[in-house]
Amino acid sequence: MKDGIKTATLTIGDKSLELPVHSPTAGPDVIDIRRLYADGGVFTYDPGFTSTASCDSTITFIDGGKGELLHRGYPIDQLAEKSHYLEVCYLLLYGYLPSAEQLETFENTITRHTMLHEQMQNFFRGFRRDAHPMAIMVGVVGAMSAFYHDSTDIADARQREIATHRLIAKMPTIAAWAYKYHIGQPFVYPRNDCSYAGNFLRMCFAVPAEDYVLDPILERAMDRIFTLHADHEQNASTSTVRLASSSGANPFACIAAGIACLWGPAHGGANQACLEMLEEIGSVDRIPEFIARAKDKNDPFRLMGFGHRVYKNFDPRAKVMKQSADEVLELLGVENNPKLQVAKALEKAALEDPYFAEKKLFPNVDFYSGIILEAMGFPTSMFTPIFAVSRTVGWISQWKEMIADPQNKIGRPRQLYLGETVRDYVDIEDR
Ligand code: SDX
Repeated sequence: MKDGIKTATLTIGDKSLELPVHSPTAGPDVIDIRRLYADGGVFTYDPGFTSTASCDSTITFIDGGKGELLHRGYPIDQLAEKSHYLEVCYLLLYGYLPSAEQLETFENTITRHTMLHEQMQNFFRGFRRDAHPMAIMVGVVGAMSAFYHDSTDIADARQREIATHRLIAKMPTIAAWAYKYHIGQPFVYPRNDCSYAGNFLRMCFAVPAEDYVLDPILERAMDRIFTLHADHEQNASTSTVRLASSSGANPFACIAAGIACLWGPAHGGANQACLEMLEEIGSVDRIPEFIARAKDKNDPFRLMGFGHRVYKNFDPRAKVMKQSADEVLELLGVENNPKLQVAKALEKAALEDPYFAEKKLFPNVDFYSGIILEAMGFPTSMFTPIFAVSRTVGWISQWKEMIADPQNKIGRPRQLYLGETVRDYVDIEDR
């Protein structure tokens, strides 16, 4: 303790440094190392940021040991059960549950920003038909900064608000239109008399040749999937958005960077990879073979949808997703879906295996989501775009928080340099 501040003492050679320790409202204390290099002449070393807090935040908290996820203090299972996606968006953006009037105003604002500038259709048509929808989303969202100049000045709070509304509102349209372009069907425009989830389903599955009847079961399942993926502390794509934003880049470019990072199979791409893995396993009797491969250090194969950097217990979203999978597939009359049977048997076998128990590997949010999405009619290539639609509010909420933080400065990590020390150039004739 120094001057009433909790401290940690670090001894480096003959130097002894007192580093301030900050205590959170929940989770571990943090050691403030901002003066470490100036006062101690050393860097810390933490590839993958396994023990590093990159910022302070009030938005989302994860207790990995308990398998708890809170958005502004509200547990995800309660939000999934009692709330809906646009209300969770409001909660993440503004920090409290809205009144009925506040929610109505917010929902009306989002609903009336769902259309895209008509000329943006040209971007979709510039892609090959077989382009992955995530490639199209990265391109089109980045291109929004070329169309919406009146909401790119991040120093202007009103422009930040407009950009926030535009991104949350237009992401479903962009994702749906990426899908329609991919399958060669005409774009379907959003409708103001549809819910957020209903609009997305309609823009994906309606065709001009007949009326589209929205199934309320699918609408509720879609909204719940959006809710479950909305935010998740400083995950890789959120950290990407924060780092991109720290240079002052416009919000559309920063969200495009987040989409690109989310695409990776170790992150948001795991839902697609998990379903492809379940297809490869094919039947329950091949599960031991794949469990063995997942445990084999010489085999790069990993169980997709399993494990997590933070959760060392069940991912609470996976629990809700599993329950939703049972409900949706039963209501759709496909409860005997072979992939669901394989997934349940695989989960059981893995959780009973000492390897997974010792390493605290449990199903994560991506383990069951793909089964529901496939049952709803989506191809695997649309799974990560749906994750990106949902996570946009998380990225934007974290972006807003960072922009408003007076400590905000450009992110610029250092390194442990192991390369050549200085040496003179050698002319080619002397090499
Ligand atoms: C998401 O960060 C977030 O919050 C992300 C996310 C969000 O909402 O934003 O929750 C969304 O990305 C969920 C995770 C989706 N990814 C997958 O399902 C892909 C499969 N999972 C793994 O790739 C892995 O578990 C990670 C990437 C999720 C976590 O990797 P870590 O934290 O770097 O852990 P690690 O790779 O160091 O693994 C620890 C040990 C290793 O064994 P050892 O080297 O200690 O012997 O566990 C093993 C790993 O080999 N391991 C697995 C495994 N995951 C980890 N072994 C088999 N199968 C797996 N899935």
